[in-house]
Amino acid sequence: MADTTSDATSNRSTTPVSDTFRDFISGGWADRPESVPAPREVAPFAAARRARISALHPGERLVVPAGPAKVRSNDTDYVYRAHSAFSHLTGWGSDAVPGSVLVLEPTADGHDATLYFLPTAGRDSDEFYANAAIGEFWTGPRPSLAHVAADLGVATRPLGELDAILDAADAATRIVRDADRELTDRIDGRRLLDADPAAADADVDADPDLQLARDLSELRLVKDAYEIAQMRAAVAATKRGFDDIVADRDAARTHERGERVVEGTFNRRARMDGNTVGYETIAASGPHACILHWIRNDGPVRDGDLILVDAGVELDSLYTADITRTLPVNGRFTEVQRRVYEAVREAADAAFAIVRPGIRFREIHATAMQVIAARTAEWGFLPVSAEESLQEGAQYHRRYMVHGTSHHLGIDVHDCAAARRDLYLDGVLEPGMVFTIEPGLYFQPDDLTVPEEFRGIGVRIEDDILVTEDGAENLSIAIPRTADDVEAWLAGS
Ligand code: GLY
Ligand code: MN
Ligand code: MN
Repeated sequence: MADTTSDATSNRSTTPVSDTFRDFISGGWADRPESVPAPREVAPFAAARRARISALHPGERLVVPAGPAKVRSNDTDYVYRAHSAFSHLTGWGSDAVPGSVLVLEPTADGHDATLYFLPTAGRDSDEFYANAAIGEFWTGPRPSLAHVAADLGVATRPLGELDAILDAADAATRIVRDADRELTDRIDGRRLLDADPAAADADVDADPDLQLARDLSELRLVKDAYEIAQMRAAVAATKRGFDDIVADRDAARTHERGERVVEGTFNRRARMDGNTVGYETIAASGPHACILHWIRNDGPVRDGDLILVDAGVELDSLYTADITRTLPVNGRFTEVQRRVYEAVREAADAAFAIVRPGIRFREIHATAMQVIAARTAEWGFLPVSAEESLQEGAQYHRRYMVHGTSHHLGIDVHDCAAARRDLYLDGVLEPGMVFTIEPGLYFQPDDLTVPEEFRGIGVRIEDDILVTEDGAENLSIAIPRTADDVEAWLAGS
């Protein structure tokens, strides 16, 4: 099933090239009725998001590419995923056409939004049957301009018309730089011609593109009603995956790469429900749980060990959950495992208890750390008291939890990543924010500062939290999380 015509594969091409063949393959096809759908649910929300970024950048052309497909190896691509900023501003998710570009063109009182993309090529074109990268025979038909315009509620034009827009030197242009290398290079080239030195300046405060990336990230800090509904659905889909892991765990215990079985069980549920995963599933059993981003998942799942599963379902809209549960493989925590587990849960509960509009994001982490420091001090692992360890210049307890407690969550698993510290770590919580609370304790197998029975134990409990008008809601509360509830879940009750 290889591309049979590109330069890269001309050594193995078998595509017929005769005019006779071209004539034959271009005819004999039924008409394709043009369907014009009603706008999808996200359309008015995406329009409101565009209006907000428009208001921040009057008189400027804003270019937000979806980006090309990413190469996995030579002529084989990964499943396509549009850039998150593009998806956020258009509402186009898993069905976005690769290489599309949203342009907000400045007008007297705002911006006109136009979505440029490649509609399906005619059946009389070579692309139709001979282009494995984008041809209809290879990757399926693309929607028409009219279809997408109605579907997303935004004006559409053929991608071929984009050059003329971008080459017009009549407005300052900002581009989301990390979406489409080729397009970014073109705009940089244009700027060199116009002798605009700002593009080369890496300082966020001066660089117009980094400012745009920052603004688009900050636009996502507070979720709208559509996004919150998507987050609820992503969490519900993720719960189904965790329920399957629990139900099928005997298959993992009897397999030499049981972690793969656990990963496969979760990912199969995501796929069976029509979804995908928002990041590589972490299935980390025994001491692998102490490796924060363990995604090789090639180890066994042994009785007496814990298995840490960090997994999230991503929907067609690209919104993803991010949830961790740590389960005793044989259904019962040992005394030491339970002690560690409940300390982590205590940290998570303490952090959750303070969440409400008006507090600062960083207070969540600080609250969780008070518990982590208190417990590790009580167990005699710290060379100083918990109070001393919590001093900024000490932080001994962080040896056992080197990661942060929370990150924003949404269309990216680590959402809003380019937001300013003032609005992120030092930011004040507002209703509609969604983030994780995910404390953990990880005692490396060779850590001589802890007694032997603690070594190789890794526990994380991660929940997805929505800030409400007067407090917070744990969106993932339905997935058992206390030690007792986890044991009851595993016992099938
Ligand atoms: N799954 C990555 C994280 O928890 O941040
Ligand atoms: Mn997380
Ligand atoms: Mn996670």
